[in-house]
Amino acid sequence: MSNPLRLGIAGLGTVGVGVVRILESHADLLAKRAGRPIEITAISARSKGRDRGVDLSGFAWEDDPVVLATRDDVDVYVELMGGEDGPAKASTEAAIAAGKHVVTANKAMLAMHGQALAEQAEAGKTALKFEAAVAGGIPVIKALTEGLAGNQITRVMGVMNGTCNYILTRMENEGVPYDQVFADAQALGYLEADPNLDVGGIDAGHKLALLSSIAFGTKVNFAGVALEGIQRISTTDIEQARDMGFRIKLLGVSQLTGRGLEQRMQPCLVPVNSPLGQLENATNMVVLEGDAVGQVVLRGAGAGEGPTASAVMGDVMDIARGFSMSTFGQPATGLQDIQAAQASAPAAFYLRLTLKDAPGALHKITGALANAGVSIDRMRQYSHQDAAAPVLMVTHKTTRAELDHALDGIMATGVTLESPVAIRIEDV
Ligand code: HSE
Repeated sequence: MSNPLRLGIAGLGTVGVGVVRILESHADLLAKRAGRPIEITAISARSKGRDRGVDLSGFAWEDDPVVLATRDDVDVYVELMGGEDGPAKASTEAAIAAGKHVVTANKAMLAMHGQALAEQAEAGKTALKFEAAVAGGIPVIKALTEGLAGNQITRVMGVMNGTCNYILTRMENEGVPYDQVFADAQALGYLEADPNLDVGGIDAGHKLALLSSIAFGTKVNFAGVALEGIQRISTTDIEQARDMGFRIKLLGVSQLTGRGLEQRMQPCLVPVNSPLGQLENATNMVVLEGDAVGQVVLRGAGAGEGPTASAVMGDVMDIARGFSMSTFGQPATGLQDIQAAQASAPAAFYLRLTLKDAPGALHKITGALANAGVSIDRMRQYSHQDAAAPVLMVTHKTTRAELDHALDGIMATGVTLESPVAIRIEDV
C-alpha cells in the first residue's frame, strides 16, 4: 500500500468528532477503497481538556490552527471551526500557501472568500473541497460537478436549513406559534450561536450562493442573494396555505436569466404533493434541473455528526484516491462575474388580507389589483364573527413590481386592518 494520507483537523465539535469516529471505525474499509491508509496526525480545538467521547491521545495537539495547518506531517488540512474570517480563513490560507489540500465545512468563509481561496488553491495546485458546507450529508457538490457535468444546469432549488424546516414543520403539525417553536429549537441546541444565521436565511443563502457558482460557472455572489427569513410566518398562513394545497418552506432558488443571476432565499409556497412539499422536520432537499437529465431530487440529513462527517470524508477520500477537481467545477479564474438580476421571474402569489367588514371593501381591493395589472386566480373569504373579514387570494403569475404596486394600492384603500401578507408560490 502507498503512503498514508495524513490529516490535521482543526475544530473538534460535533463534525470533527464525527470524522474521528469514522476514521476509527472504518479504517480498513477506507484504506481498501483508497489504496492507502488515512490517518490523523494532529488536531487543534478551542479547549484541550474537554472530554469529547473519543480517544484523542494518539494525535499531536496544536493550540494554533495556523501551525497545525502548516505542519510537515499534515497532507490535508480539515477545517471544521467555522466562522467567515478569523482563524478559519487565516489557517486555510496558510495551509494552501504551504501546499496542503484543504477540506472544509465552512459555508460562510467560502460564500465570502471562496473566489480568492479557490484561485489561491488552484494556483498552488492543491485541492479546496467543501461538500460538507452545503446540505450536510447530501452529496450535492459531487452531483453537480461530476454526475451532471454534461448538462446545462437550468435551475437549482433547495431547502437547506434544517432548523427552519423543523420550525415550520412543527408550526404546521402542532399549530404552535413561531416564538414558541423558536424557543424550543434554541433549548434543543438546533440554532446557530447567532440564530439569525438560521431563521434569517443567511446560512441557507450561503449554501445557495455556493451552488449557484458551480451550477452556472459564476463567481460566488452571496451579496446577490435576495434574503428573507421565516420570522414573520404565522400559523394562520401555514394553515391557510395548507387548506389551499400548499406548504410554506424556506426555499432557495437560483437560475441564470437574461436579466442576470437570480438568487433568492425566501419563504415560498410549494404544492403539498411535490417532493419539496413533503419534506418534514430537519431534513434537507436539493432539486437540480439540467437540460439533458431533467429534474433530480436529493434528500437527506443536512446537519449532525454522522451526515456532515460523511460529507467531509467523501472529500478526504477523493484526495486520497488522487481525484482532482477545481473548487467550483471549473478553473476559478474562468468563473464569470455575473450581475444579480434586479427582479425575480414572474410568479403567482398567495395574499392574505384582513379587511373591514363593510360594503364595498372587497370591490376596492379587487380594483387596486386590477389597476396594478394583477389578475386573481382564486379567492376566498372565510367565516368570521367580528368586524375583521379575512380574505385569501391566489393571483395569476405577476411580477414582484406589479404585486408591490397592487399592495400599495390595497393599503391606500383604507379598508385593510392589517398589513397584507404576500408569499410567492414557486413552480416546482
Ligand atoms: N444550522 C444549519 C441547519 C446546519 O439548521 O441546517 C448547518 O448549516
